[in-house]
Amino acid sequence: MKTSIYIAISTNGLISNSRNVPDWLSPEYGQGMYSICQQFKAVIMGKTTYDIIAPDYLPLKDDGITIVLTTHEDEKPANPTVNFTKAEPAEIIQRLADEGYEQAVIIGGTMTISQFIKAGLVDDIYLIVEPVLFDGGLPLLKDVARDLKLNLVDVAKLNANTVQLHYQLLSVVAGG
Ligand SMILES: NC(=O)c1ccc[n+]([C@@H]2O[C@H](COP(=O)([O-])OP(=O)(O)OC[C@H]3O[C@@H](n4cnc5c(N)ncnc54)[C@H](OP(=O)(O)O)[C@@H]3O)[C@@H](O)[C@H]2O)c1
Repeated sequence: MKTSIYIAISTNGLISNSRNVPDWLSPEYGQGMYSICQQFKAVIMGKTTYDIIAPDYLPLKDDGITIVLTTHEDEKPANPTVNFTKAEPAEIIQRLADEGYEQAVIIGGTMTISQFIKAGLVDDIYLIVEPVLFDGGLPLLKDVARDLKLNLVDVAKLNANTVQLHYQLLSVVAGG
């Protein structure tokens, strides 16, 4: 089972601005996110991210599985792919593997990404670097005590100003 992260960041490494308005994201980020979700068919996100994109912008509509981390498991799902769960990251990955999924993609946000990184369950990360600087937003990671070393797999220019960095997570280099 391979688990990837696909996330857009500002050039100074933040994943949302203080206005919490996604007006800085390129169409290419949106297309790439939908495309990897369609390819992997198993998508993981936190409830805050879900509440922003559901129901219209959920990447899976009727095929595959959308895992949403939440303590509110009894809420009505926005479509048949949506599964609300408060299970631990390791349990989620095991469940997806048991159901026959070979790849899963985590699309946000900070709290969700941080938990999977902390649990050592992430194989690679796609960072879509958008040409914008802003202060006061959310970082990519929070409360992750470990430093992780990365291996650069690929760099792709998605448009005149947006770059996609694909890294493989290697090993813990400090704080492990
Ligand atoms: N730049 C990008 O590509 C990108 C992509 C996605 C999101 N974002 C941004 O990320 C921000 C959201 O990130 P976030 O860190 O605040 O939230 P998040 O990770 O999307 O969701 C956090 C919520 O998920 C639930 N949750 C998380 N871990 C859980 C666990 N172990 N057990 C049960 N429930 C759990 C909790 O919801 P309950 O209260 O329901 O329990 C928690 O409040 C937004 O501003 C969004 O715009 C950016």
